[in-house]
Amino acid sequence: MSAKQIRHYLQFKDLTRDEYDYIFERARILKHKFKSYETYHPLHDRTLAMIFEKNSTRTRLSFEAGIHQMGGHAVFMNTRDTQLGRGEPIEDAAQVISRMTDIIMIRTFGQSILQRFADSSRVPVINGLTNEYHPCQVLADIFTFYECREPIRGKTVTWVGDANNMAYTWIEAAHIMGFKLNISTPPDYKIDLSLVPAELRGAFQEYPDPHEACIGADLITTDVWTSMGFEAENEVRKQAFASWCVDAEMMSRAKPDALFMHCLPAHRGEEVTAEVIDGPQSVVWQEAENRLHVQKALMEFLLLGKLNN
Ligand code: CP
Ligand code: NVA
Repeated sequence: MSAKQIRHYLQFKDLTRDEYDYIFERARILKHKFKSYETYHPLHDRTLAMIFEKNSTRTRLSFEAGIHQMGGHAVFMNTRDTQLGRGEPIEDAAQVISRMTDIIMIRTFGQSILQRFADSSRVPVINGLTNEYHPCQVLADIFTFYECREPIRGKTVTWVGDANNMAYTWIEAAHIMGFKLNISTPPDYKIDLSLVPAELRGAFQEYPDPHEACIGADLITTDVWTSMGFEAENEVRKQAFASWCVDAEMMSRAKPDALFMHCLPAHRGEEVTAEVIDGPQSVVWQEAENRLHVQKALMEFLLLGKLNN
């Protein structure tokens, strides 16, 4: 594959709205094939390298099962057991790993590490979560909304909680997919506008009061108060985020048929009550499962382009 043909998926903005429409349709087809036990091996003999510098349950399993179900094979690598943990330059690792595999997924710290890896890779690189973005998760979330309701265009999504990798990804998604995004964070944990390109600043509206942010929402979503890598701030964050717990009262401000999503893992009694996450409006298990189906569609698209079967 020449460098010109490589498509990476490092941020939500790396695909167009038309390409998302295609990927969601492929995810629907691939999910149906999976549920029907239909063998489908478009990535026969292809190898996915999965590099984890942070913990994971869903991302690891969905990528590993996904490539296997499409006829390929996954290799799991982590920092501790590879030379990455002993200081091998990321560019050198990318050169080597991308000569032995067909596609690479990385979960790491700074987005700049992922970008440097991709710049030296000969094969597509997928962001499996960085401090800044988690595009595969929002891909699954928007597909889940489409499955449960209808296309997300024109709808209202409310983000309650930390201005973290999920929040910044939702901002990119609102701009590309054309939905309204309300964001409510504690005052000391607001979106850093210097990290949001000028053209995206109109894609969301900030609300100091999380209850107000939920008014009229079609989807309310949240995430942990302390993301991986920020554990030292945990106790301070627990105080600051105490009023940013999605509870039944917040859900009651949204539309009666509003959905609740959470990328998981969740902390019941912190960012969400058990009543909400285990309640009738929550679609978190379907959301988690859909990681598998959308990422299969994503890998198929990055490696094979658009298909008709
Ligand atoms: N939502 C998500 O990415 O989960 P994991 O951290 O378990 O991969
Ligand atoms: N924001 C969380 C998401 C975990 C899937 C984190 O980065 O830890």
